[in-house]
Amino acid sequence: QSDVAGDLASILLTEEQLGSQLDEIAAQIDADYAGKDLLLVGVLKGAVMVMADLARRLHHPVQMDWMAVSSYGSGTKSSGVVRILKDLDSDLTGRNVLIVEDIIDSGLTLSWLVSNLRSRGPASVEIATMLRKPDAAKVDVDVKYVGFDIPNEFVVGYGLDYAEKYRNLPFVGTLAPHVYS
Ligand code: PRP
Ligand code: MN
Ligand code: MG
Repeated sequence: QSDVAGDLASILLTEEQLGSQLDEIAAQIDADYAGKDLLLVGVLKGAVMVMADLARRLHHPVQMDWMAVSSYGSGTKSSGVVRILKDLDSDLTGRNVLIVEDIIDSGLTLSWLVSNLRSRGPASVEIATMLRKPDAAKVDVDVKYVGFDIPNEFVVGYGLDYAEKYRNLPFVGTLAPHVYS
């Protein structure tokens, strides 16, 4: 197992860039949900990094729960087939839910997830995502908080994987074509 540096084509977003964007998003969330109940729902596994870094920036008291859904398997293309691998522990009735995601690519995962969670009787369902690829969108998803709009390239790091690798990189990088072609 060699160093990952040779697998990366470039660094797209540094740890500092991700962090300062999260500072702003956290301040907005604190303001928007002041005096309200808030349940953060992290989407495993990709959202682990953004959930941890966002939640610790909030002054608002929140609860955190997790759902595991997968639409990618080990490839680079979304299949559009969303499977629940682990459901929430929480009852959503009357709750303000904020889904926390690492990336919106085609939008298929989140558009499915939002309607699934809305059917459970919450007071509100909103989305916070670190990354979004506007040029890859297959369905429109209404997102309240976005870290960065990025080009339609295959990116890894900060929770994002290729075949389960690279999630632990503290930055977002583009994967060199030789890795997946
Ligand atoms: C990735 C990513 C998002 C989703 C975005 O998850 O973390 O959840 O795909 O793609 P979409 O907008 O095209 O639906 P993945 O299914 O790879 O599972 P993972 O989080 O466990 O890596
Ligand atoms: Mn994911
Ligand atoms: Mg994945």
